[in-house]
Amino acid sequence: MMIYLDNAATSFPKPPRVVAAVAHFCNAIGANPGRAAYSLAQQADSAIARSRRMLAGMLGRVDPSRLILTPSTTVALNLAFKGLLKAGDHVLTTSMEHNSTMRPLHRLNKLGVTHTQVPCNAHGQLNPSDILPRIRPNTRLIALVHASNVTGGIMPVSEVGRIARESGILVLVDAAQTMGTIPVNPTDLHVDLVAGPGHKGLLGPMGTGFLYVRPGIELESLWEGGTGTHSESIYQPETWPERFESGTCNAPGLAALAEGIAEIQDRGLEVIAAQERALIELLYQELDRLPEITIYGPADRHQCTPTLSFNVQGLDCSEVAHILDTVYGVAVRSGLHCAPTAHRTIGTFPHGTVRVSVGPYNTEEEIQTVIRAVTEIVRFRREC
Ligand code: ALA
Repeated sequence: MMIYLDNAATSFPKPPRVVAAVAHFCNAIGANPGRAAYSLAQQADSAIARSRRMLAGMLGRVDPSRLILTPSTTVALNLAFKGLLKAGDHVLTTSMEHNSTMRPLHRLNKLGVTHTQVPCNAHGQLNPSDILPRIRPNTRLIALVHASNVTGGIMPVSEVGRIARESGILVLVDAAQTMGTIPVNPTDLHVDLVAGPGHKGLLGPMGTGFLYVRPGIELESLWEGGTGTHSESIYQPETWPERFESGTCNAPGLAALAEGIAEIQDRGLEVIAAQERALIELLYQELDRLPEITIYGPADRHQCTPTLSFNVQGLDCSEVAHILDTVYGVAVRSGLHCAPTAHRTIGTFPHGTVRVSVGPYNTEEEIQTVIRAVTEIVRFRREC
């Protein structure tokens, strides 16, 4: 049996109730949601509305109509950047961002939207007071990751949110690594937009995600088409959220997302988080004893999601990941994790790191296997 430790990429395995919900939708519902009045189409619609409501609940009971369902966090971030920003706007971001933020921002540079990356320290930590001096009269948005997908380090989002609010600037949070893992509440965090996945911490199927936009914020749609409403008009309706959801969605995946959220609610987010933190803490403590291992990110694992990046002295991270996979049956992600700017910040560019990311179904026995495996790899390297 494979030991899966790449939950930062997508959670696996999925709860049986999620798998059953996908199968139920495909076998027993199957209709296109929001496009017809017959009962199966209504059932499809209700299933997706349930997921939207439950997502709204996870975000601290926000208005569900301001939750745009998307196929991924990347699509949500693109929609936020390109639907919000105009030529002449300036964006502040950090040096720990994923390419899903950096690439849209670079593309927007060509259209007259500029950005500044606020540098983080070598542990990937942001000092919120570094934000203020970089604010310009045309700074419209601060876009930052809630937690790094490389180090797991949680960013001081609420402090940044407070600074932004005092300066009349919007804040967009990339919650790819935090939704379903730690609380994400836009009101408590003082943020305006949240982009997140359904398929990571929320335990839903791949091809699911969302963008939350606080009421009062205007957003342009990036694609137009059928919405199942106002079909007499050649213009895209103004009503939320259908204005942004043209095209047939991943209905089986979105319907099943409700079951992923229900699983977290039944087990308790805090209970899962404590279990995951204990496992990553154990891994941290044991790997930290080995002088040949370098661990990246904040030393205080309470400031982190259950993700740990490390390197073995004298070995390329891809070699270590390959040995873990082929010899020990352990699946981890190595390399740059689509976040080259984060790796430059922590000093691991261009090779990257070995990344272990724990999920709700990992066990202490599995982590002990990883500890044994890495210890043996280190010993083997010493003897070479
Ligand atoms: N962004 C995902 C990761 O960090 C896919 O692996």
